[in-house]
Amino acid sequence: QAFFRPITNAAPPSPTKRQTKISVIGAGNVGMAIAQTILTQDLTDELVLVDNKADKLRGEMLDLQHAAAFLPRTKIHASVDYAVTAGSDLCIVTAGARQNPGESRLNLLQRNLALFKSIVPPLARYSPQTVLLIVSNPVDVLTYLAWKLSGFPSNRVIGSGTNLDSSRFRFLIADHLDVNAQDVQAYIVGEHGDSSVALWSSISIGGVPVLSFLEKQQIAYEKETLEIIHKAVIHSAYEVISLKGYTSWAIGYSVASLARSILRDQRKIHPVSVLAKGFYGIGDEVFLSLPAQLGRGGVLGVTNVHLNEEESQRLRDSAKTILEVQNQLVL
Ligand code: NAD
Ligand code: LAC
Repeated sequence: QAFFRPITNAAPPSPTKRQTKISVIGAGNVGMAIAQTILTQDLTDELVLVDNKADKLRGEMLDLQHAAAFLPRTKIHASVDYAVTAGSDLCIVTAGARQNPGESRLNLLQRNLALFKSIVPPLARYSPQTVLLIVSNPVDVLTYLAWKLSGFPSNRVIGSGTNLDSSRFRFLIADHLDVNAQDVQAYIVGEHGDSSVALWSSISIGGVPVLSFLEKQQIAYEKETLEIIHKAVIHSAYEVISLKGYTSWAIGYSVASLARSILRDQRKIHPVSVLAKGFYGIGDEVFLSLPAQLGRGGVLGVTNVHLNEEESQRLRDSAKTILEVQNQLVL
């Protein structure tokens, strides 16, 4: 006997809406923080986890499945075999080595290079229309590598980039001025790392440009305070890693916000790592963060934000730093 008895004179079931599928590669601290934020925010119909540690992977899958009674309905699968990712709309790559306390992100390249060669080609093969969202570090160089290994158009290969650094920046400015971080519009661009660039000239709070406001109020232009805030942004990850060993919650929310903008076609602007050739005098094929509009097709465009001369120069220097590391890649 069926569990549900059909009602009489019922209309035939309406065609089901297209299901969305997100795959998260790497079920470590970062992958699981992203997975759990995606689940709580009801961003997908199907969530897939892939890792090369079968037991840990199954444990993580079961643990999430056991929360089903408290979450929006989502099918959760896990496998060490990439076939499980077939037909994904979004593939988020978090697998790989992370920094030891005090170690720079750029130092991780050699450890994560071989890994990407084994991860990106099967993802591209099983989901030829997917958007690839890279999180593993060094994220800018690995996004370039994923672009090359996948053969995808550059609008479908994105690095989580400075979406996280910009959130840290907005938090610190909001804390300094005692306002809500969501009212602070402020971008960090360039490398997700030590050479990132703070765009002071375009910061606004509730629509009020901050620098010209301070100048009009004849409040001394606190260049030093601004530099201290930017240094604190750069230092943030080092501090968290030295205290708890890794970062996870903020990147979880940061990547979930990107997943929402992409899958729900929100056309929101996020500073993320994109192919930067041709912008602000950058002539090389290098990925770094610029304020980009995200939607169902991935990167829809890059905002034409005005940078002053100092900011443009710092951005080109950041591109050079990334390029020096990228040139060590043997594809
Ligand atoms: P972790 O060690 O907790 O997790 C890494 C996971 O990758 C592990 O579960 C491991 O089994 C898995 N893995 C290793 N090799 C694999 C392979 N060949 N195939 C599939 N899975 C494999 O590390 P974490 O703290 O989750 O950090 C992951 C990465 O994310 C690091 O590179 C870290 O630097 C980076 N990260 C980036 C940002 C960002 O803003 N872009 C923020 C935080 C961390
Ligand atoms: C971050 C990582 C480590 O939290 O890139 O910034």
